[in-house]
Amino acid sequence: MIVQQNVSLKPYNTFGLNENAGFLAIVTSIDDLDEIYQTGRFRSQKKMILGGGSNVLFTRGFTGVVGKNEIRGIEIQRETKEDVLVAVGAGENWHQFVLWCVERGYGGVENLSLIPGTVGAAPMQNIGAYGVELKEVFHSLEAYEISSGKTISFFREDCKFGYRYSIFKGELRDEYVITKVFFKLSKQPVFNTSYGAIQDTLEKMEVKKFSLQNVSQAVINIRQSKLPDPLDIGNAGSFFKNPVIEKLHFEALSAQFAQIVSYPVDEEKVKVPAGWLIEQAGWKGFRDGEVGVHDRQALVLVNHGNGRGRDLLKLSKEIQKSVQSTFGIDLEREVNVV
Ligand code: FAD
Ligand code: EPU
Repeated sequence: MIVQQNVSLKPYNTFGLNENAGFLAIVTSIDDLDEIYQTGRFRSQKKMILGGGSNVLFTRGFTGVVGKNEIRGIEIQRETKEDVLVAVGAGENWHQFVLWCVERGYGGVENLSLIPGTVGAAPMQNIGAYGVELKEVFHSLEAYEISSGKTISFFREDCKFGYRYSIFKGELRDEYVITKVFFKLSKQPVFNTSYGAIQDTLEKMEVKKFSLQNVSQAVINIRQSKLPDPLDIGNAGSFFKNPVIEKLHFEALSAQFAQIVSYPVDEEKVKVPAGWLIEQAGWKGFRDGEVGVHDRQALVLVNHGNGRGRDLLKLSKEIQKSVQSTFGIDLEREVNVV
């Protein structure tokens, strides 16, 4: 296993935060995980696992061992006329895996095109976009139990998936390293174009017949027009989750803010876009030195170059306070603070 000492994490997180790791270990196998977690070498060190670093906020250096997940491999396990079960190493790049599926005609992940990061982190927050969530194609996963070194299987019900949530982000946080994910994909795909922007984009692309390729391309086009590329400006996508509030609360807000947007959740609750709330509270395009709020998507906090994680965290708390005092709504962080 390659281990480097005292390494800058700047190339390993999409905020581009220049914090150091005591050790950076490149994990390519279960043996490497054993070396980090079970042998004496790193016993006294703190440990964390990192994928593509696209959903973490480093607020200080990490004095211990950062294990960068590079466990690879994509393998078809089972195939019928209707579907296919695919096992994917947790360190595979998510978008490359989506393209692999699209090329072969395996449907289910095309709406999740261009989400940064690794396959292993995808179940962590049940990634979602454009009307689809990971849980819809998820079959099971294998995870390394840190306390015992054993590999444990988790099926869909075990993961307790919710909106940007799984058991690995909740009660089992820091207890497992996801090493392999199994997906059930359809060989007779049903296209999900319910998200208005996809239909509009397909029309603009003059698509006559839906295919996995053109749905994926439509999603890529929308994302590129809406979300800043971390290569241009440091960010981690949505900083907060979209809050779910009581309908009664929403009705009271609508009387005051006629333009407020919402999506139905159930009989009693609605989801409100955090980007709208943050923009209305006056933060869109805000800049304080090296950190700020994106000028086209207020849900995205940005590092203009030499920002610090602690300044982003401070800004995020000011935004939370301001949204609470304007709308009486608590914004919950989506990003993982280290
Ligand atoms: P990391 O940032 O490396 O890790 C995230 C967390 O998971 C950390 O706590 C880490 O310790 C833990 N972790 C990572 N790998 C493992 C593992 N193998 N086992 C256990 N724990 C692990 N997300 C969406 O859901 N939808 C979007 O549309 C979306 N758009 C985005 C757009 C941009 C421009 C960016 C920068 C981010 C976006 N995200 C989106 C967020 C991010 O891409 C996802 O959360 C992604 O799954 C993170 O993967 P990662 O490998 O980078 O995880
Ligand atoms: N909006 C504003 N001002 C803004 C930003 C948004 O008014 O500055 C309004 C938009 O006009 C729109 C609504 O908010 O009416 C929703 O905006 P958008 O379609 O851009 O999506 P979002 O709710 O901000 C969510 C996810 C994204 C995902 C997209 C597409 C969350 C927290 N975010 O964003 O996921 O890609 O929908 O499905 O659910 C992520 O998790 O990191 C992420 C990028």
